[in-house]
Amino acid sequence: MERRFRILRFNPLYDVKPHYQEYRIKVQPLWSVLDCLNEIKWKLDGSLSYRRSCTHGVCGSDAMMINGRNRLACQTLVRDLKYTRVIRIEPLKSFPVIKDLYVDTEEFFERNLAVKPWFVNQTPPPERERLQSPKERQKIDGPTKCILCASCTSSCPTFWFDKAYLGPAALLKAHRFIFDSRDEAQAERLAILNDRTGPYKCHTIFNCVETCPKEINVTGAISDLKKKILWSKIRRKEKKTEGG
Ligand code: SF4
Ligand code: F3S
Ligand code: FES
Repeated sequence: MERRFRILRFNPLYDVKPHYQEYRIKVQPLWSVLDCLNEIKWKLDGSLSYRRSCTHGVCGSDAMMINGRNRLACQTLVRDLKYTRVIRIEPLKSFPVIKDLYVDTEEFFERNLAVKPWFVNQTPPPERERLQSPKERQKIDGPTKCILCASCTSSCPTFWFDKAYLGPAALLKAHRFIFDSRDEAQAERLAILNDRTGPYKCHTIFNCVETCPKEINVTGAISDLKKKILWSKIRRKEKKTEGG
């Protein structure tokens, strides 16, 4: 079957502003949008730029806006977009465009670094491994699935209007370590988040949940962080009062 694709193009070398370009190609229903982009690039227009790598929903590099919604191109089948005459493809909103669908994610990854996304434990390790019960592991089941595709941060209205906000992906990363029973830097991480850039900036809009290709409850994780910060403040206050 034939499908039409309307792709937002921008080449900083020649274009003053982005413009749409249309392509018609023959596709198979089980092709992904990434297969279609490859078909366009390899057979019709080699100048089309987009990021991709694993083609299996693992690397998170091909997140883009497809028919108005952030999705992974490799996980979106043409068959599932059947009610639209034209498939519209645009780069992730709110990130600087390098070329066409290729956005600059450097700042996005810097935001993630701000929450110290690495395991901290100064206690000498036991002979075999640092154990965790299934219940403890369950607390971080969702956040560990994150592939850092940036779909959530790009779809968050709070982030659109306030670039100081860490954004859902970075907060989810913080949650992944704060709620890890083996990590020892909880207080340090909570202190970083207890700021106007942290979880209290989230207005519970849920776009992040709707768009996440890994179906992670990002809003729930942010709400856990809000509660955790509050309880740590209450405990600190109680300790002060007890100490006179
Ligand atoms: Fe992507 Fe989901 Fe991770 Fe956000 S939480 S970066 S949408 S995988
Ligand atoms: Fe944004 Fe998600 Fe909160 S969309 S405002 S981070 S619930
Ligand atoms: Fe890796 Fe799509 S190409 S997630």
